Amino acid sequence: MNSTILVTGGAGYIGSHTALSLLDAGYQVIVIDNLSNSSDISLQRIERISGKALKFIKGDIRDIQLLSRVFNESQINAVVHFAGLKAVGESVKQPLQYYDNNVNGTLALCQAMVQAGVFSLVFSSLATVYGDPMHLPIDETQPAGKTTNPYGRSKWIVEQMLGDLAASDARWRVALLRYFNPIGAHPSGLIGENPNGIPNNLLPFVAQVAAGKRPALTVFGNDYDTYDGTGVRDYIHVMDLANGHLRALEALEQKPGCHVWNLGTGKGYSVLEVVKTFEAISGRSISVEFADRRLGDVASCYASPAKALHELGWTAKLGLEEMITDTWRWQVNNPDGYKN
Ligand code: NAD
Ligand code: WQD
Repeated sequence: MNSTILVTGGAGYIGSHTALSLLDAGYQVIVIDNLSNSSDISLQRIERISGKALKFIKGDIRDIQLLSRVFNESQINAVVHFAGLKAVGESVKQPLQYYDNNVNGTLALCQAMVQAGVFSLVFSSLATVYGDPMHLPIDETQPAGKTTNPYGRSKWIVEQMLGDLAASDARWRVALLRYFNPIGAHPSGLIGENPNGIPNNLLPFVAQVAAGKRPALTVFGNDYDTYDGTGVRDYIHVMDLANGHLRALEALEQKPGCHVWNLGTGKGYSVLEVVKTFEAISGRSISVEFADRRLGDVASCYASPAKALHELGWTAKLGLEEMITDTWRWQVNNPDGYKN
C-alpha cells in the first residue's frame, strides 16, 4: 500500500492507536499534533511496536500556512482527523476554546485540503450528537443535533459543515464516525489513554482507583431506569475503533459523498458491571460511593452497529474483558502515563 495518510491529533489516545494500525496495514503516516493533550512519546512507542517510522510535525491545525506546507511537501491521499479538545466540563467553562479548536481547526484543515486537491476525510464524531436517544439501540437514522454542551455542539457543527462541503463538490468523500465509548489500550501495554489530571471518563478513573492512586469511584446516579440503576454505555475497544477508521478509508474509495457510521459494539454495560469486571480482572477491590446524576448524562446509550457492518464490513471483535485487561495492563506498566 503506497497511500499516505495525514493523521491530525495522532499523538493522542485514539489517534496513536489508529496511526499504529495504519502503519501495520502498510500506509505511510504523517502526524500533526500540537501536543496540547498528549506526548510525543506515544509516537516513539508506535514506531517501536510497528518497527516502522512515521513523520511527525509538531504544530496546530489552525495554522493554515503550516498545513499548506505539509500538503505541499508530501503527496497526501487522505486525512484522518482527530485533533481537537474533548472535555465536556471544560467546554462549558471555555466554549470559545472549543469552537476555535474544533470548528475553526476543521475549517482550516478543509481549506488546506481544497488548496491541495485532497478530498478524503475521516472525522471523529461521537454518540453524544444523538442526545437522549428516542429508542435503543441507536441507529444512524435517529435525529441528531440534540447536544447538551459546547463540546458536543462543536462536533455537530463540524458534521453539518462537512455535509455542506460534500453537497457542494462531488469530489469530497467524508466519513463521520460516531464513536460510542472508546476504552482499552494496545495489547503491548505500550500505548494507551493518558489523561491529564483527574480523569473525566469512567475507565481511566476506575483504573486509577484500582491502582491505589484515588480512594474511590464516585458513581454518578443509581436511580436511572436501567437494570441496576447506574448508567449504561456501549464501551468499544480502541483497537476495534482504530480498525473502523481503516475500513472507512477503504470504503470512501468507492463512495463519494458524506456518510455517517456508528462505531460501537451494540452491547451496553452499566457502571457497576464495569466495576465488577475490573475487580475480577485486576484482583483489586474498587471502592464506590454514590452521588447525584451528572448533568447532561443519559440513562442508556448503545449503538446499532448494523450500518457499519453492512457498508464497511466492520464489526467490533473485542469484548469487555479484553478492553479491561488491556486498560489494566497499560495502567500497571505506565502508572504515570508517558514517561521516558
Ligand atoms: P486526545 O486528546 O487524546 O487526542 C486529541 C489530540 O489532538 C491530542 O494529541 C492533542 O494534543 C491534539 N490537538 C488538540 N487540538 C489540536 C490542534 N488545534 N492542533 C493540533 N493538535 C491538536 O483525544 P482522543 O480521546 O484521542 O480523541 C480523538 C478525537 O476523537 C477527538 O476529536 C475527540 O473529540 C473524539 N472523540 C473522543 C472520544 C473519547 O471518549 N476519547 C469519544 C468520541 C469522540
Ligand atoms: C460513562 C458512565 C457516567 C465517571 C463522555 C462524553 C462523550 C465522549 C465520551 C469524548 C456514565 C459514569 C463516569 C465517573 C461515573 N467524550 N461515570 N463516575 O459520559 O458516556 O461520554 O465520554 O469525546 O462526549 O460525554 O462517558 O466515561 O464519562 O461515563 O459514574 O467518575 O460512567 O455517569 O454513566 P460518557 P464517561
